[in-house]
Amino acid sequence: MDRFVIQGGKRLTGEVTASGAKNAVLPIMAATLLTSQECRIGNVPRVADVTTMRRVLEVLGSEVTHTDHELVIRSGSSLSHEAPYDLVRTMRASYYVLGPLLARAHRARVSLPGGCAIGARPIDLHLRGMGELGADVAVEHGYVVASCGRLQGNRMSLLGPVGSSVGATINVMMAATLAEGTTVIEGAALEPEVSDVASFLRAMGAAIEGDGTPFITIHGVEELHGAEHETIPDRIETGTLAAAAAITGGEISIAKCRPDDLQAVLSVLRKAGVSIEVGDDHLAVWAASGLRSVDVTVAPYPGFPTDMQAQITALMSITPGTSIITETIFENRFLHVSELLRLGAEIKIEGSSAIVRGVERLSGAYVMASDLRASAALVLAGLVASGETVVRRVYHLDRGYERFDEKLAGLGARIRREEE
Ligand code: UD1
Repeated sequence: MDRFVIQGGKRLTGEVTASGAKNAVLPIMAATLLTSQECRIGNVPRVADVTTMRRVLEVLGSEVTHTDHELVIRSGSSLSHEAPYDLVRTMRASYYVLGPLLARAHRARVSLPGGCAIGARPIDLHLRGMGELGADVAVEHGYVVASCGRLQGNRMSLLGPVGSSVGATINVMMAATLAEGTTVIEGAALEPEVSDVASFLRAMGAAIEGDGTPFITIHGVEELHGAEHETIPDRIETGTLAAAAAITGGEISIAKCRPDDLQAVLSVLRKAGVSIEVGDDHLAVWAASGLRSVDVTVAPYPGFPTDMQAQITALMSITPGTSIITETIFENRFLHVSELLRLGAEIKIEGSSAIVRGVERLSGAYVMASDLRASAALVLAGLVASGETVVRRVYHLDRGYERFDEKLAGLGARIRREEE
């Protein structure tokens, strides 16, 4: 197991390049199951979750070649239909194979992912969506077992108890591409990753309109073909790097990103006193002095992303004043808080809010990563804490950030990876 050892106190300066979006490329990989022809995906981040999805596809019978930042995938004619527990439990997003398998192979047996550190995370909306498309869906022995004839287009709402679901929207959209007739998803998620998957599906020959709005219409076609696609840049990685610049009082530029996809994050950072210059595909971020506390409430896109909540909490922990950070999407997403306390932060949890009173300085300590974004928050805190911070269990971070230690070191951070 690896850990990061960070000597805090170094301002970040220089240029860094954003990687491709993990949350777009995982469903895009699953979508290649919809055709027997070859698909080529570019700007693929080299992160552990991509390797896990590759294994899931290989177990299903796909041939996958991964070179540098490109994936070539062919899911020929003899597909298996079972995604086993051992793989799915390591990455929830494995459930993205459910829709494509049902659409093409007319049956699927996919392990239920179970809960994870940030909450229960049910998949009832995915299952309801497949049922609305005419599949028989049951849960047996920890597996979702589903079968169908050709899926049938339908009109459905995929709104859950806290609003839209990124995963259910994408899974149903993928399945509906090969259904007979037209499907309309109401209450669809607006996240840029949904539109990136829709673009890939269109390149495969799918007829999809309205992605990026709450109503997505999919006109089913008989078959899809191979396609090429460049994955969008990762908005959460970009936001995390911007927060890293801010927390260290640094000055960095981020190349090959999409500032339009992170307006809510940029607006919060600006309110906090961070200067930001925006180009079409790059950002300049500098934080001279005088950061101010801001209150933040997480919301589905285009609101402030839950995936940036931990990082903004870390930034507010050393910003003068009191800020209230409210989580609305996942019930247990404050696991980073108790670790930030070990670094000297002053944070109280009240219901679904973290009340953060900015302290003058954090001091390095051993901390433990609990999930992907919590790990990022601890690394950010370590960059500014005095002395040495050791972040353990960075395999959580490696799931979704490409060479994060190297990118930060390239900006001047004193950070090294060690085996425990
Ligand atoms: C995706 C992202 C994750 C991000 C989240 C919210 C991927 C691989 N992961 O997760 O990084 O934090 O969006 O932006 O893209 N819900 C249900 N029933 C369901 C599905 C979801 O009740 O069937 C609930 C969830 O528990 C949660 C809310 O809906 O409270 C939103 O979840 P959802 O958008 O589905 O998140 P994921 O797609 O799992």
